Formats: sequence, C-alpha cells, structure tokens
Amino acid sequence: MKPYLIAPSILSADFARLGEDVANVLAAGADVVHFDVMDNHYVPNLTIGPMVCKALRNYGVTAPIDVHLMVKPVDRIIPDFAKAGASIITFHPEASDHIDRTLQLIKDHGCQAGLVLNPATSLHYLDHVMDKLDIILLMSVNPGFGGQSFIPATLDKLRQVRQRIQESGRDIRLEVDGGVKADNIRQIAEAGADMFVAGSAIFDQPDYAAVIAQLRQELDS
Ligand code: DX5
Ligand code: ZN
Repeated sequence: MKPYLIAPSILSADFARLGEDVANVLAAGADVVHFDVMDNHYVPNLTIGPMVCKALRNYGVTAPIDVHLMVKPVDRIIPDFAKAGASIITFHPEASDHIDRTLQLIKDHGCQAGLVLNPATSLHYLDHVMDKLDIILLMSVNPGFGGQSFIPATLDKLRQVRQRIQESGRDIRLEVDGGVKADNIRQIAEAGADMFVAGSAIFDQPDYAAVIAQLRQELDS
C-alpha cells in the first residue's frame, strides 16, 4: 500500500475566499485537494468547473488536484480539466457510455484516471479495466452533498476492493469519500483505504492543522 493521503473536499470550503482557504488547508498538512464537480443532472447539486480549478493553479496551488466528476456526460469536460491543471480525474461509470474510452481519454490528457463507485454500485465495473486504473474511489455516502454520515457497508466493500487490487499486482490507490472523521478513519484504513477525503470534518473546524494532525494520529495508532 502507498502512504496515506489526506484529501480535504473543498465542497465544504469558503467559496467566497477559496484560494486562501485551500492554501490554508494545504499549509495545515493536507496532501491533495479534492475537487467535487456536480452538474445538477447526475447529482442534485451544482458546484464548480474547470475555471475554478485553473484559478486555484493561478493562485499558486501546486498540490495535486483530485477532480471528482459527478457529471453526465463525462467525456467532453475532461480535456478542459486537464488543461486547467487537474492531476487525477475520477468519474462514475454509470455516467459514461464507454468506460474504457473515458479512462483512456483521461490518461491521454496526462492525468491519473479512476472510477468512482456509489454505495449501491457493483464492483463488477472494475472487472475489465483494472489495468487502466490508477485509483479507485469508493463513495461512503450517496454523492451530492457534504456532511452526510458514513455508510458502514462501505467497510466490506473496501476489503473486497483491496483484495482485488492485491490480486491485480498493481499499485492502485484506494480512496474513500463521505463521512470520514477522526472517529472512523482508522477503521476505514484497516479495511484497505489509503486516501481519505474529508470535507466537513476539516472545514467545519476552526483549526485545520489540529484536525489533520488528529486524523494522522488515528492512522498511525
Ligand atoms: C459528496 C462529495 C464528497 C463530500 C465529502 O458527493 O463527493 O467529497 O464533499 O464531504 P464530507 O466529508 O463532509 O462527507
Ligand atoms: Zn468527492
């Protein structure tokens, strides 16, 4: 497994002063910026697009930007995100007509590629694309909103995906997104995750460094 990564979801950041808030959370010890893209079509919420990703790069953000696409269709926005400075691009297989082609499109644009599986989405989507995946993201809430509770059945799914990654012999990241907090992150890591999205757990607290230190302490314990 790769070293643990903490990826604050900027869905819970202060959008009126986003650059500063993202810079602060990175200075507080975050590894990756998790960038939630919602289209009010695939999910019932509307957020941010490539312009905001580019603006963060222009502001001086050099950390990896992990773009989580909750949009349908997927393909036509991928080149724009690559140009805007995305490092990782993940998408929901139900939102793509041709999953293999979409993964290849992301890679052809120089980004790491991954699938996102909702709580009720089957692991069968992984069957024929393991060789193309850099990352697998398991949703531990239904996508659309921050601040929801972690769905415990995700733990078993994480164990199954970790097993599949081991069998593949490839070093694929296993990310988890939704309801991750200091009181469950250790259990989530034990189930096989190595990258942790946390939105409300971090941004709803005044001291980002203290929360991130607490999350890392739980991971190290
Ligand atoms: C939900 C998003 C998540 C969300 C996580 O659709 O993909 O990234 O913002 O927020 P918390 O950590 O508050 O559950
Ligand atoms: Zn997300």
